[in-house]
Amino acid sequence: MRKEDQVRLIEALMEKLDSGVNVDAGCQVRNPVSAYTCPELAQREWQAFFTEHPQVVGLSADLPGPETFLTSTDFGKPIVCTRDAQGTFRAFLNVCRHRGAIVETEARGEKRQFNCPFHAWGYNLGGDLVSVPKEGHFGPVDRSCHGLKALPAQERFGLLWVHPQPDGEMDLDRQLGDLGPELEDWDLDRFVPEGQTTYEHPMNWKLAIDTFGETYHFNTLHRDSLAQDFHGNVQLYDTYERNHRMMLCLRNIDALRETDRTDWHVLSAALPVYYIFPNVQLIIGYDGPTLVRVYPDATDPHNSRSQISFYLDPGIDRTELADRQGEAYRDVVARMEDFARIIRDEDYKAAAAAHAGARSGAQEYVTFGRNEPALHHYHNTYRTALGMPPLQVISN
Ligand code: FES
Ligand SMILES: [Fe+2]
Repeated sequence: MRKEDQVRLIEALMEKLDSGVNVDAGCQVRNPVSAYTCPELAQREWQAFFTEHPQVVGLSADLPGPETFLTSTDFGKPIVCTRDAQGTFRAFLNVCRHRGAIVETEARGEKRQFNCPFHAWGYNLGGDLVSVPKEGHFGPVDRSCHGLKALPAQERFGLLWVHPQPDGEMDLDRQLGDLGPELEDWDLDRFVPEGQTTYEHPMNWKLAIDTFGETYHFNTLHRDSLAQDFHGNVQLYDTYERNHRMMLCLRNIDALRETDRTDWHVLSAALPVYYIFPNVQLIIGYDGPTLVRVYPDATDPHNSRSQISFYLDPGIDRTELADRQGEAYRDVVARMEDFARIIRDEDYKAAAAAHAGARSGAQEYVTFGRNEPALHHYHNTYRTALGMPPLQVISN
């Protein structure tokens, strides 16, 4: 991010703190409770957002070198993503063209060739069928039409994108607008994957997303955790097509007031939280980014799963635990684990309770406040994408 933009954002946060006025969506809106509980809507969302829309499968750093791979079933199909010896990123259906077994069963690793565990047909990282054991017995196989089925795949802005449909279209410039170049500025490919955790909760996927959409709750739900480091109910908010950027306000911003603007770095004062339609939160922390992907249950609006992936700055020495750098590493890992615990035990616990509330019949709608513009935007993008009218505005 350019220095002048960093200074502008920090000054804007300071102005919000000084004036005591948070971002203002200009109105309240009502979201029908059925948005979280309706099975028919859940099916339409799954179809439109997760089977017919480009998906983020990770950061570039998730394929950290040549001849690496990762697999996923997050959006309902077995896929395998590869980076070949030349660094090219590709994606395929992880399905053997012999009798349909899953070809690669490990989550990630380094490999030059995949050998199917059933009868050992072999595929290279370009998806080509390169070996058929005992072909003299089996009979000839036309290699030209028995490669792994390719999926549209692009590595853009430091992220790995896959379209779940072999003939799907990906126009990422249009999808992200001005957000793409900004994401590119963070050099996401330079980080090192540090681990991943998965949470399953009895709640609609959009309730999980909603917990990332405002800081109004910080001083209550996170009173003893995040509120120690953040000013609650203070944020900046900008939209980019169906995506957005929230800038959360670190308490550390107060220390910057006495320092020269030329020394300001945006990550010293703020936590950028990017939302990428339909299900991604990308959080740019001081130690490295965190990627949160939330997936519905394809058939059940009352369950969802979150994949939370952590990445670290490569400058942090991860091996020499005895020296000073090692201590820094331990501290960073402890902060990451703490963050994951807060999501699980504070945010998602509250969101699961809200889901139970939604199912109780207590009310027809929930209300999104003027200080929660991300919630207005998320839900209106979902509705617009499905041809539904925008959320009802409450005039006051
Ligand atoms: S199913 Fe893969 S080799 Fe037979
Ligand atoms: Fe929260």
